[in-house]
Parts: sequence; structure tokens; C-alpha cells
Amino acid sequence: MPHPELRLFRPDDLPRLQEITALTFGPVSIDRNMEQLLGEFGPSGWEARKRAAIALDCELQPDGVFVAVDVQDTPIGYVTTRLQPQSRIGWIPNLAVDPACQGQGLGRALLERALAFFRESGMEVAKIETLEQNPIGQYLYPSLGFQEVARQVHYALRLRD
Ligand SMILES: CC(C)(COP(=O)(O)OP(=O)(O)OC[C@H]1O[C@@H](n2cnc3c(N)ncnc32)[C@H](O)[C@@H]1OP(=O)(O)O)[C@@H](O)C(=O)NCCC(=O)NCCS
Repeated sequence: MPHPELRLFRPDDLPRLQEITALTFGPVSIDRNMEQLLGEFGPSGWEARKRAAIALDCELQPDGVFVAVDVQDTPIGYVTTRLQPQSRIGWIPNLAVDPACQGQGLGRALLERALAFFRESGMEVAKIETLEQNPIGQYLYPSLGFQEVARQVHYALRLRD
């Protein structure tokens, strides 16, 4: 395929990034696992919470959010990042590609863009997490050179009936 077009995030991209988030994160969301196990909780569901998390990523490090766009300049994927200058760790909180555009190398290209941003910004280590239920993450990240450093188990408890 032709090299994907990547560009920096613009504030008017946010609704589309949130739409891609809602389309993709269902099978790989800790919050959704909690809802499935415990039933619904809080004023909104996992999807709204995840949309809010993407908005926060874009607010906290807008110069580290990169989007893949189609020929109409509409976002079809994104990666969010956070620079941690004290530790020199660059963190990748979120990555997603529209299901209609997956499997074409966009996820890999977005990650490579994030790694270039970390290098340009003086970071020394890049960090990303994935769930055991996410086989693509467990394949894709090591294929870019990431090494596994730890596993974490998440627990949740319903406080009211
Ligand atoms: C993860 C994600 C961003 C990847 O996007 P993508 O554009 O499809 O990624 P790419 O096309 O660059 O690469 C995917 C690679 O995974 C491989 N892959 C696809 N399905 C796979 C599976 N079930 N198991 C293992 N590898 C798989 C592809 O073959 C490809 O490998 P290659 O680069 O060696 O050819 C996308 O699947 C997504 O949005 N998932 C939902 C959200 C998510 O999981 N985000 C990451 C949270 S940790």
C-alpha cells in the first residue's frame, strides 16, 4: 500500500478520534470488562469514559497526538503520547485504527511516529501497555522492539447492590 499519510492532531479531529475509540476499544477495555462482570455503574458507560480519556490525552499533550488520515484528511487512526521529562520515559496511552482501515500498516506507522517524537523530544525509553486479551498488541509491540517488563492483574469490587 502507499505510505500512510500522518499528521499532527488538530482540535477539530477530537470527535472523530472519539468515534474511532468507541468503534475499536470494546474488546480491549478494562472498563468494559468491569461492566460485563459487575453490571453497569456510574453516570455513564465504558464508552463515555474512554471518550473522555482520549479528550484528556489530547488536552495534556496535543503536540504528541498523531493521526492517520484518508484522502479527504479525515482521521482513520491515531496514537496519543505523553512525555515524562523527569524520567525521560515516553508513554503511549492510546492507539486505535478504524476497523475498516486495519491491517494496512497504519497502527505500526503511528507507533513509529510516536517513537520518532520521543527521540526528537529527548526521551530515553518508550512505554506501552496491552491486555492479555489483545493478541494484536502482544504481536505488534514486540515486533517494533518493545520488550515485556511486567504483567499486572486488575481486580474490581462492587460496593453497592
Ligand atoms: C492495535 C491496532 C491499532 C492495530 O492497527 P492496524 O492498523 O491494524 O495495525 P497494522 O496493520 O500496522 O499491524 C497489525 C499487525 O498485527 C497483525 N495482526 C492482526 N491480527 C492479529 C492477531 N489476531 N494476532 C496477532 N497479530 C495480528 C497483523 O498481521 C499486522 O502484522 P504485520 O505488521 O507484521 O503485517 C488496531 O487493531 C486497533 O485499533 N485495535 C483496537 C484498539 C487497540 O487494541 N489499541 C491498542 C491498545 S493496547
